[in-house]
Amino acid sequence: MRSKLVVGNWKMNGSREANAALLDGILAGLDGTGADCAVCVPAPYLFQCEQLLAGSAVAWGAQDVATEPCGAFTGEVCAAMLRDFACRYVIVGHSERRAYHGESNALVARKAKAALDAGLTPIVCVGETLAQREAGETMAVVGAQLGAVLALLGPGAAAKIVLSYEPVWAIGTGKTATPAMAQEVHAALRAQLRDCNAESAENVQILYGGSMKPENARDLMAQPDIDGGLIGGAALKAADFLGIIRAVA
Ligand code: PGA
Repeated sequence: MRSKLVVGNWKMNGSREANAALLDGILAGLDGTGADCAVCVPAPYLFQCEQLLAGSAVAWGAQDVATEPCGAFTGEVCAAMLRDFACRYVIVGHSERRAYHGESNALVARKAKAALDAGLTPIVCVGETLAQREAGETMAVVGAQLGAVLALLGPGAAAKIVLSYEPVWAIGTGKTATPAMAQEVHAALRAQLRDCNAESAENVQILYGGSMKPENARDLMAQPDIDGGLIGGAALKAADFLGIIRAVA
């Protein structure tokens, strides 16, 4: 049986002061019910997360990782550094990185592998644009995005990822996929995982991301193949983030 997981993606938001207040609010409101949770924060704040969250029920992680293990790569942050700050997770292939930094499916696969090699759990994001959805290409697009990762990782490692379906047109727009629309894609992604590794496909958590809020989280997470959420805007307010964590039936 898969547990539910709710991950906050802070994107490029925060300050030491604001983070402390947000994390205090989250920690104060957690009551041991609801989903497992984590926050993925800008790299400069990983130390602060380790200080404030160690020993708590909130895990933490980063939003990107280098493909290389170390060396002359100015500006990059490698997986071992994330481990050094006790990260559990790292997001790879977020649509904003694909769009603004030209990250290809092959590059995202290498990032997922770098994370796994260092003992991190990559949260692999896939999702189609509005134009791709309207052209009927959703399954082909997300299938190719996941396929590149599975091909590089192979069946054993593929079972160790978290997957997140984030329709690009739903991110930060207030437009959410309906539970049925999301479930359809999640089920297809799980079928693809099953083709790669029949046994562990049932254990891989597939999150939904894109304007998830306390008000729509319950119906989304009630779907059989939706195992939690990757939350942007609503993760920046303790009450909203807690509301989503508690929305797990
Ligand atoms: P959103 O972002 O919840 O603000 O739509 C989700 C994400 O980009 O991970």
